[in-house]
Amino acid sequence: MWDKLRAHYEQVSERRFETLVDAERAAGFSAQAGDMLLDYAKTNIDATARGLLFDLLEQTGVAAKRDAMFAGAPINETEGRAVLHTALRNVDGGPVEVDGVDVMPAVLETLARMENFANDVRDGRFVGQGGKITDVVNIGIGGSDLGPAMAVKALAPYHDGPRCHFVSNVDPADVATVLRACDPTKTLIIVASKTFTTIETMTNARTAQAWMSQTVSDAGAQFAALSTAEDKTADFGIDPSCVFGFEDWVGGRYSMWGPIGLSLMMAIGVDAFRAFLRGAQAMDVHFKTADWSENLPALLALTGIWHNQICGYATRAVLPYDNLLSRLPAYLQQLEMESNGKGVSMDGTDLPVHSGPVVWGEPGTNGQHAFYQLIHQGTRVVPCEFLVAARGHEDDLHHQHQLLAANCLAQSEALMRGRSLDEARAKVADKFEGAELERQARHRVFAGNRPSVTIAYPQLDPFTLGQIIALYEHRVFVEGVVLGINSYDQWGVELGKELATKLQPVVEGTQSADDKDGSTAALVGFLQKNGV
Ligand code: F6P
Repeated sequence: MWDKLRAHYEQVSERRFETLVDAERAAGFSAQAGDMLLDYAKTNIDATARGLLFDLLEQTGVAAKRDAMFAGAPINETEGRAVLHTALRNVDGGPVEVDGVDVMPAVLETLARMENFANDVRDGRFVGQGGKITDVVNIGIGGSDLGPAMAVKALAPYHDGPRCHFVSNVDPADVATVLRACDPTKTLIIVASKTFTTIETMTNARTAQAWMSQTVSDAGAQFAALSTAEDKTADFGIDPSCVFGFEDWVGGRYSMWGPIGLSLMMAIGVDAFRAFLRGAQAMDVHFKTADWSENLPALLALTGIWHNQICGYATRAVLPYDNLLSRLPAYLQQLEMESNGKGVSMDGTDLPVHSGPVVWGEPGTNGQHAFYQLIHQGTRVVPCEFLVAARGHEDDLHHQHQLLAANCLAQSEALMRGRSLDEARAKVADKFEGAELERQARHRVFAGNRPSVTIAYPQLDPFTLGQIIALYEHRVFVEGVVLGINSYDQWGVELGKELATKLQPVVEGTQSADDKDGSTAALVGFLQKNGV
């Protein structure tokens, strides 16, 4: 199946796809889920390529695996777990069974407890020693940080609760900077960790505990925990009424829909949080029911596979023309790269193709003044994903939003069209002549023929954010199934963690670095000489 796609690509790779893009293609190579539009017309995918890509979905059994996921089957085979983050947003969708037991009553009960707690904090019924909670600090890392941190930023226009801060890095600069800005008597610390063992999170949590204990007589009362390990939260001294549990069928990077989203709920309130869940639920229904030709997660996945595994483009830039989504690229780095950055198939054999791409990005227009030079004229092609809202939240500054949108559209057009040598010559013909004209013109040539997709939506409200995140989650699922990867484990993070634990006493100087390689020993020596 890969061979046919590669053979087709060989035939069309030199074609300028710009020549294909008329109104008919714009309609035929785009799709909508609710009021969200995905446009993939500005790619070299034609009807033949798309047909072959749809064949990939059929041959790898994506529909059956999708249904198995939603039905609670243990599709995370290396860990023997179901994958049911979708149950967390299945607020009015009926039963979901794992091993014959409906998980929805427990999911809804936890959601109700979260809502009561969030309301109590927001309305001043749950108070700190000094009165109403003004600041919430979420301490977590990876999936216990990136999702809520991204969403709290994304939904800033909807904030009407306490200020939310995020501490993730074990670098003391992170926790110290956040705590310095908070009054311990009016701060709630949320320790977010699925396992409640992650060294960075537990270290920061103990630092926060010590900080609070200096001022607050019952510091434990101003702590909450979000975890699957409720025994460990009790050992830490957190009252069970402030502990919100979830099950191991929720992967860390898929967990913001449940307790890990508590800080977001605190910030935007329970109604807006429910709208966020409903947006994701709507994308779930779309993913389950839309034909592949209209199915946004499937189409987005297939553009990814075409660009990465077939065209050989190793990275993918995510470029939100929506400053509120400034943390989306960081969030997607974990979602996509921790899920699909794997070299073996589910059965343990080597992947026949490359694993998922490097995902990176920054909001437009900032990126334009930084790395777009390489995107337009560098020697490697970087497929781009643009996100743009029709409206911002600043009605009085709508003209700025129009300028933002124009920039977004201009970039995808420029990537596709490029600028020929003749056009470049014409640009500078009044300033140079002869050999110097040629030289100057060459610097102003844009190869063009560079692909992009655009995701457009009316406005970034809670419902839309839910749609966007679920869209990307399901895109990762489809890419993973097609590649034969288990998208739900993360063995690749283990080795570094093990070595860090062994290196800690070496860095501290209580163990010698003699059994380390020369480079590591020399680096330890340098740091020790300089006061580590
Ligand atoms: O380091 C990888 C990882 O296990 C991620 O998958 C996870 O999101 C993160 O660490 C944090 O884990 P926890 O929520 O258990 O603290």
